[in-house]
Amino acid sequence: MSNIEQTLSIIKPDAMERNLDGEIKLMFEKDGFKIVKGKKIKLAKSEAEEFYKVHETKPFYNDLCEYLSSSPIMVMILEKENAVLANRKLMGATNPKDAEEGTIREKFGISIDKNSVHGSDSVDNAKIEISFFFKN
Ligand code: CMP
Repeated sequence: MSNIEQTLSIIKPDAMERNLDGEIKLMFEKDGFKIVKGKKIKLAKSEAEEFYKVHETKPFYNDLCEYLSSSPIMVMILEKENAVLANRKLMGATNPKDAEEGTIREKFGISIDKNSVHGSDSVDNAKIEISFFFKN
């Protein structure tokens, strides 16, 4: 039975600053994802704080929100069979030094903070994150 899902992807400032967005989008498309919607935006720090609210008790929360709002990002809705899991697999581990070969973070990630991409971690969070950026 087919299970087409949507997930939210963000190309983070470190990748945008190195003009890697085209190459990363191509990796999604080659992996069978359809980019349903996409836009380049710059978040205010308060918006980054709202987006990453689940991490608000973590020691890295402030730096994370500073970073995500430091320069433009690309936000996209990706669609594919089991998209949430498939995107997490294509991104690789959160820390690029642990990411499997051929994954986006292994190829482009610089550090655990500058790890080039964000992807929703569950179907429920994908719905929340998509509606955060794409309000109809
Ligand atoms: P992301 O998938 O965008 O979700 C939260 C981000 O916090 C994560 O990627 C990392 O870039 C960042 N981060 C910084 N430090 C840590 C840490 N110790 N553990 C997990 N994520 C971290």
